Amino acid sequence: MREVEEKSLLEKPIGVFDSGMGGLTVVREIMRQIPNERLVYFGDTARLPYGSKSRETITRFSRQIVRFLETMDVKAIVVACNTASAYALDTLEQEIGLPIIGVIKPGAKVAARTTRNGQIGVIGTAATIGSGIYTTYIRQIRPEVRVTGKACPLFVPLVEEGLWQDPVTDEIAMRYLSGLIDTGIDTLILGCTHYPLIRSTVGRIMGDHVTLVNPAYETARELKELLMEKGLFNPVPPALGSNKYRFFVSDGAEQFLHFANSIIKYGILSAKVINIEEY
Ligand code: DGL
Repeated sequence: MREVEEKSLLEKPIGVFDSGMGGLTVVREIMRQIPNERLVYFGDTARLPYGSKSRETITRFSRQIVRFLETMDVKAIVVACNTASAYALDTLEQEIGLPIIGVIKPGAKVAARTTRNGQIGVIGTAATIGSGIYTTYIRQIRPEVRVTGKACPLFVPLVEEGLWQDPVTDEIAMRYLSGLIDTGIDTLILGCTHYPLIRSTVGRIMGDHVTLVNPAYETARELKELLMEKGLFNPVPPALGSNKYRFFVSDGAEQFLHFANSIIKYGILSAKVINIEEY
């Protein structure tokens, strides 16, 4: 009986959320690194962007999403959104009884390890940059490092519009990033889960001498460690047809599906719209 209970615990899904489709860049990495895990993804497409909203609003939205994920019987939660990680993670950690991780600490760790000249740049939403949270975490690891943040509020709508390779995106990226080039950074954190989708544009503008850090890889690695530590890691693939990956949004399922399939080469067949305000 005990064995059966333990097995069904391991088979429970991991809940992952973001304000939209950006969190899929984290999902992609989780699928790669821990392929036996089942996932439930929620993208808050009706209320995006989070990056221009207040701490209170972001926390309220994140709480509702966590309540929804709890109804899906998840065994752990990944906040695949820098903005929600910056503003709501501490509160969520205190309120829920499940293991939960965000993307900022893992990203800060990699950047602190990566820089050679001690100059790191961070790009993110206005909320993430305004919180100064990357600077705080990086300085806890390497107090001598200088961190320069730059909010890039138009990147999220450009990504959600699918303008990943477009002259408009180039033009806006140029404006946002030129000041960062002058600071002499050798490492740049993509501090918003939408930004890996315009990585090539950012990389081209910053030049080869700047290493781009995508926190997704390290987040998936730390998630694996956390699951192992808590005895929640699933060592066997779930049975075929067991709905391994499930996707939910608060609006625009068709558009989400279209983009999800260009980010994740898995063949996602459906995304269900739910009313998140009910949670
Ligand atoms: N993808 C989210 C992040 O990582 C934010 C996008 C938004 O502004 O909603 O910060």
